[in-house]
Amino acid sequence: MLAIDANHLHKSFGPVTAVDDVSIAIPPGSIFGFLGPNGAGKTTTIRMITGVLIPDHGSVQVLGTDVLRYPLEAKLKMGVIPENGTVYSDLTALQNILLIAKFYGMDKRSREARAEEILAMLELRERRNDMVRTFSKGMRQRISIACAIVHAPPVLILDEPTTGLDVHSRRLVIETVRLMNRHGSTILLTTHNIEEANELCSVISIINRGRIVANGSPEKLKATFDTSRYIEISFEQVVERTIFTHPDINRVESWGDKWRVYSQNLDTLVKYLADLAREQDLTIISIATSSPSLEEAFVQLTGEE
Ligand SMILES: Nc1ncnc2c1ncn2[C@@H]1O[C@H](COP(=O)(O)OP(=O)(O)OP(=O)(O)O)[C@@H](O)[C@H]1O
Ligand SMILES: [Mg+2]
Repeated sequence: MLAIDANHLHKSFGPVTAVDDVSIAIPPGSIFGFLGPNGAGKTTTIRMITGVLIPDHGSVQVLGTDVLRYPLEAKLKMGVIPENGTVYSDLTALQNILLIAKFYGMDKRSREARAEEILAMLELRERRNDMVRTFSKGMRQRISIACAIVHAPPVLILDEPTTGLDVHSRRLVIETVRLMNRHGSTILLTTHNIEEANELCSVISIINRGRIVANGSPEKLKATFDTSRYIEISFEQVVERTIFTHPDINRVESWGDKWRVYSQNLDTLVKYLADLAREQDLTIISIATSSPSLEEAFVQLTGEE
């Protein structure tokens, strides 16, 4: 059974098609990243998955429960951190967590134990009795996360959990996500930070203008963009561009005392260059392969600069 199984989701707002035939299948135990530029449709998709917004078409199941038909049952299986956190400003940090724990029907003792555990995890212990109103953005976001994980949900959904946070708060959020995952929660998070997706996620989907444009592991997505890969090589001897003649070579550029030789097939290219040097009696001073970045893949797929 999939943790999240969303099929053919569509949502329009008047003339704007926000989400256009989006399907997402997330196996239990994974950290799934939903990546896309501003306005791509990430939040709209998340809101349909979490039962906040009714899709025009399509279906969503969370751990086998149909979100449209059984929203309450489905919501009990999820912890959600929405784009704009929903914490109570006029309650303290501790009161916020205890209140949500009560909503989930936890008994008093486990509510208190869990609240302490989470406050420690998110480094909010010293501020536990302060009104959330007095908190910084990073601290508010941590409270929002605390409330979402209080019942140890099997599925945790986070909409841009680290946007606008400093390095320290960001680290805490990421560590908490990892910890929840290690303890068995399946994670769905959205981000436009490619490095974050690369660092955290086992699988990502890239969405652009309401449509999914690519799927796969970060490494696989990077590899899809092999056309921009090259080998940088320099020889002791001066050589002409024309010595590089292999049919797999797309392009050759001169970079200072080095050559950048572009090809889809780096393996063939390395072997060819070694043979070439041997045949022509050239001494190789340096040779290196480029690794395409996920950012490159993202830029190509979304046409964003
Ligand atoms: N309630 C709404 N009414 C009208 N249009 C909406 C509504 N919600 C979203 N949209 C539109 O749907 C599109 C997708 O928006 P969405 O918030 O899903 O994007 P996003 O990928 O989450 O972007 P961001 O990275 O900026 O959060 C946008 O064009 C947005 O203006
Ligand atoms: Mg959004």
